[in-house]
Amino acid sequence: MSQNKKICIIGGGGHVGFPLGLVLASKKYSVYLYEKNKIICKKINSGKIPYFEIGAKNYLKKYKKKILAGYDNIYLSNSDIIIVSIGTPVDKKYKPELKKFLELFFFLKKIINKKQTIIIRSSVYPGITDKIKKILKGVNDNISYCPERILQGKALIELPKLPQIISGYNKKSIEVSKKLFNSISNKTIITSVLEAELVKLFSNAWRYINFAASNQFFMICQNFNIDFKRVRSFMMDGYERNSTLPNAGFAAGPCLLKDTMQLSHFVKKRFPLGIESLNINEGLPLHLVKTLNKNYNLKNKKIGILGLTFKSDVDDIRDSLSFKLLKILKKQSLKVFVSDEFYNHSEGISKENLIKKSDIIIVAVPHTKYKKIKIPKNKVIIDTWGIIKK
Ligand SMILES: NC(=O)c1ccc[n+]([C@@H]2O[C@H](COP(=O)([O-])OP(=O)(O)OC[C@H]3O[C@@H](n4cnc5c(N)ncnc54)[C@H](O)[C@@H]3O)[C@@H](O)[C@H]2O)c1
Repeated sequence: MSQNKKICIIGGGGHVGFPLGLVLASKKYSVYLYEKNKIICKKINSGKIPYFEIGAKNYLKKYKKKILAGYDNIYLSNSDIIIVSIGTPVDKKYKPELKKFLELFFFLKKIINKKQTIIIRSSVYPGITDKIKKILKGVNDNISYCPERILQGKALIELPKLPQIISGYNKKSIEVSKKLFNSISNKTIITSVLEAELVKLFSNAWRYINFAASNQFFMICQNFNIDFKRVRSFMMDGYERNSTLPNAGFAAGPCLLKDTMQLSHFVKKRFPLGIESLNINEGLPLHLVKTLNKNYNLKNKKIGILGLTFKSDVDDIRDSLSFKLLKILKKQSLKVFVSDEFYNHSEGISKENLIKKSDIIIVAVPHTKYKKIKIPKNKVIIDTWGIIKK
């Protein structure tokens, strides 16, 4: 690796750490992706991308001399800046799992020095950065919280365009973080640490609530046999104030629900809007099956699920609602086919085959490639997204 400023990204093989590492390597930095998953490290070091991310292959090819993946602690001690981008999950009861995240800092405390800057990039439970400050007290005070806000799959397109939120506990941490993010983005916004933590969680909760509003409207329409896509398009036609209403559809994945629930726990569950959004969004698969059962004798029907990933045009199935739908259908002992453009399921078939074999086709994920498909008129289509041309 060259003599540029050294950055070490903890969780550097992840969906946030990896693209950020690529963008930083394209600037004046040498990047070490500190990653515990050996398979991911091997892939990256042999020039292969660990998952689908637009443009990542080219970046990796172009900057491979400035980026290295591994799990060697020496890079934690020797880097100028340490960025933390490991996961911050919630448990089965939606309670934030803070233990592992905090343990990392007890470990770091033993090997870092006071000259380094520590930037936390993960989406965190409010107040955690304060806890980290206390853990690292006496060893390192240069702690920043700068949340990631990219859309997975489009990180390399978005990183240079998105304003970067910067917060920190001292002048050095703010200045170092500002300089770092100014090198990849046109705008930085300085906030307090708690403000930055809330900016991130409010952003995801806001999106999750918006999806829930559309999904609730969709369910109302379905109960009255009305097409929500039409109602939505009439609502938006020439009426700017409704322009942000999203399509109805599965709102899933590792971030939106999780961050809404982190916020809910932070305010001791006094967040009815967030809790109801979870019930609505997570309830959509069951609602679809109940409606199908009302309208058809499903015992005689074959059902196809188009799309298994948690959102369009990625290969990530983390917390995907397609699997919840599959589970509900299989519980009824129904014949179900599955297909995805990015994810290889052991029972997966091509979209063409799925359309041919199924009587009812549920478009669970609006992958761009589905825009071009034609579904014969004799098939039933459940397309909350309105992506299939009729
Ligand atoms: N995925 C997104 O689009 C997105 C966007 C914005 C923010 N975030 C937030 O960023 C954080 C990371 O999300 P992600 O999607 O990148 O998760 P991820 O699971 O894809 O990546 C985390 C990586 O960290 C590695 N890891 C975990 N503990 C480690 C340790 N102690 N040492 C070394 N490596 C370790 C894991 O092996 C994994 O590869 C979360 O807080 C998430 O909410 C995610």
